[in-house]
Amino acid sequence: MDGNGRWAKKRFLPRIAGHKRGVEVVRDMVKECATLGVEYLTLFAFSSENWRRPQEEVSFLMGLFMEALKHEVGKLHQNNIRLIMIGDRSRFDAALCAQIDEAERTTAANTGLVLTIAANYGGRWDLMQAMNRMQLAHPELTGRFEETDLTPYLSMHYAPEPDLFIRTGGEERISNFLLWQLAYSELYFTDTLWPDFNHKAFSQAIKSYQNRERRFGRTSEQLTGEQDNGQAKHA
Ligand code: IPE
Ligand code: MG
Repeated sequence: MDGNGRWAKKRFLPRIAGHKRGVEVVRDMVKECATLGVEYLTLFAFSSENWRRPQEEVSFLMGLFMEALKHEVGKLHQNNIRLIMIGDRSRFDAALCAQIDEAERTTAANTGLVLTIAANYGGRWDLMQAMNRMQLAHPELTGRFEETDLTPYLSMHYAPEPDLFIRTGGEERISNFLLWQLAYSELYFTDTLWPDFNHKAFSQAIKSYQNRERRFGRTSEQLTGEQDNGQAKHA
């Protein structure tokens, strides 16, 4: 979700106005995904690198998380949405950690959309924490690990790999998001700034996804007859 600051700047507003508006768009898109039957929605809210921003902006963003958790969890729960936060929580204050725990606990048994918020997340951080935990659990396997040994320790072990990756705001980079899981995802980049993202912009992304041929290394001919219905399950 990129482009909040530029959206605000274009309107001669402080950057935080863009973040506020961004939260409203998150709300709309969660609703949209739940309605469409998307099974997993994962949002990159705050990267490990975002701490480098001015202290004021970081504090504001932390405050926004806290507010959003407090105010939205009830609604998520009513709508059968399960909320999970991934990322390194060690830099969050105790109150925020408690709020996250409570939100996850409240919605843990919900069976609808799985909404994952990546906060203080980085793909390399995730790989390293997974490798360290895997090695601790299997000291006898040093140097003989396989992909399937690692995947249970990745933050998103509970979800399939994303079908569709969307980045707003014009940059065409992964920026240390789900590095392992995006290996075969369809990448979609749009100039639309996150606060302007809406139903129409999302439909365009889905349409683009539906026109792609996902070969996973196979040839086009091999796929004939085994295409699914092109419906993204994890965006
Ligand atoms: C994305 O918008 C929101 C967060 C990273 C929290 P930006 O704040 O990066 O907006 P731009 O890139 O400055 O426009
Ligand atoms: Mg940005």
